[in-house]
Parts: sequence; structure tokens; C-alpha cells
Amino acid sequence: MTVAGKVYIIGAGPGDPELLTLKAKRLIESSDVIIYADSLVPAEIAGFAKPGARIFGSKDMSLDAIMSVTLQAVADGKIVSRIQSGDPSLYGATLEQMRILEAQKVDYEIIPGVSAAFAAAAVLKAELTVPEVTQTVIMTRAEGRVAMPEGEALIDLARHRSTLVIFLSVTRMFRIAGQLQDAGYPADTPVAVAYRVGWPDELIIRGTLQDIAQKVRDAKITLQALIIVGPAVDPKLLDPDSGQQVAVSHLYSDEYTHLYRRAGRGAHADAQRAELYEAGGYEIQPEAAPHVAGTPAD
Ligand SMILES: C[S@@+](CC[C@H](N)C(=O)[O-])C[C@H]1O[C@@H](n2cnc3c(N)ncnc32)[C@H](O)[C@@H]1O
Repeated sequence: MTVAGKVYIIGAGPGDPELLTLKAKRLIESSDVIIYADSLVPAEIAGFAKPGARIFGSKDMSLDAIMSVTLQAVADGKIVSRIQSGDPSLYGATLEQMRILEAQKVDYEIIPGVSAAFAAAAVLKAELTVPEVTQTVIMTRAEGRVAMPEGEALIDLARHRSTLVIFLSVTRMFRIAGQLQDAGYPADTPVAVAYRVGWPDELIIRGTLQDIAQKVRDAKITLQALIIVGPAVDPKLLDPDSGQQVAVSHLYSDEYTHLYRRAGRGAHADAQRAELYEAGGYEIQPEAAPHVAGTPAD
């Protein structure tokens, strides 16, 4: 038999409350108990809770304490929002929570969020998968107190020369920059360090593998930062005067037919472009609008 309440493990995004999903906000507003990662999630997000909701910051709670509050609440038939930073599936310590919920037969659901990785890419105005540059993103961390499984040391991952997004590791910037160069990334490989993306004190530091560590040290950044490495974060890609050529993806190419569009041919495609703009797009009719759970249509 399942217990009466329900738990939502919610990804809150990187910090900016406007990057919460509509679903996350609706669930927070209707929860009886909020347990939020107050080291990386702003109080404003927990503040969407209804009056009378009980709010806990989890940064100084142990797993036992978090789960005992959670299990007590669901036994009382309450709805619990466990709010985590970014997306819960990345470095969220969610599996250990889910296993306890499974063991106790508690109904739970995961609500995805905007990972800091994607919020950082947005601030950098970077496409992490640039055609003919790299089509792969590796999300990882440097070895520290947590040992890396075999084959996942930075030196192994670096061999791919893809875009590397490194979480939880900014204190090891000198070692990381050295290891990546040892593994074959050129010294002038672009690197961006994104500190507290989506917060008022957000800071972006750009450099190369050669100079980024010193820049990070000078800026005194020791936590809450992501390191993104690879040619995809080269600011020259955006600069039309840099002389850097960029391949165009097939998706919107006139020469490419796919499921939703036939390849255009010369003048026909140009005419179509002009018509599209002049037609002014189209209005979505209410009956064709996508159903949103929780609307009066429910
Ligand atoms: C415990 S992990 C959580 C990651 C989260 N689940 C996500 O998807 O973004 C915390 C690490 O994520 C990164 N991080 C989280 N929020 C960030 C932010 N707002 N700006 C930059 N890095 C952030 C940092 O590397 C930080 O050390």
C-alpha cells in the first residue's frame, strides 16, 4: 500500500526564479512542505509556497533529516516539494532519496529544471554542439573527494576534444587546465568559467587553458561555478569579422529535405521567405492550444 502524500523532486534551475518551469512553480505553490537546497536555490523560489506551508533549508540537513521530514509529512497526507538546483538528474543526490521513497512506497515524481550547464551556455551565447566543430557534450567533474569511475578521469574524457562541462571543480582549476593540455587540448583552447549564473552577482570569466586558472584565482572564485572547455565556447565563432567560418546545420538549410519541409529551390525558396514574413505567422486557435495540466480544462 502506498502512503497518502506525494513528493515532487523539483529542478529549480540555476537561481533566476524566472527560469522555473510553470509546472515547478504550480507545484511549489500547492505544496504543504518545502525542503529546498538553500545553498544554490534562492529563498524567493521557496517563497512561492502558500501561506502556512512549512519551509526547510536543506544545506545543513543530513539525508536522514531530510527524509525523516519528508516521510513524516507524506504519512500525514501532505504534498512535499523537494527543490534542488538546476536539473535534479545531474549531481543532485536524487537516487539515494528515490530509493528511500521506493522502499517506503511513497508516490513521487521528478520535475526537470534548467541545468546550470544550459543557463551558462545561454549567458555565454554559446551553442555547445557546433556543426563540424563538435557534436558532443561531456558533463563531468574533476576527481576530488569523490573518486571517478575507471575511464572517466579528465585525461580520458579529454581525448574526445568535445565540449566539456565540468561541475563542482572550480577549486581545482590549475590541475584541470594542466591535465587537459596533457591530454591533447591545445593551450589556446577556449574556456569559460561561469560563476553563479542567474544570480545578481553572476560573473563570466573567459580565457584559454593557458590563462584561465590564474584569472579564476584573481577573481577569487572558489565555488558555485561551471567550467566549460572547448572550441564551441570560442567567442570568435560569434564575431562575423573574425574570419572564422561556421558550417550551417542541415536543419534549416534550403538544400535539405526532412520530415517537415521539402528542400527549396532557388527563387522558390526566396519567395517563400518573403511570404512567410508578410503573412505574419499564424494564430494558435484556443482549441488547438496544447493542454496544460492544472488549467481549468483538467
Ligand atoms: C550539486 S551540483 C548541482 C548541479 C545542478 N543539478 C544542475 O543541473 O545545474 C552544484 C554544481 O553545479 C554548478 N552550478 C549550480 N548552479 C550554478 C550556477 N547558478 N552557476 C554556475 N554553476 C552552478 C556548480 O558547478 C556547482 O558546484
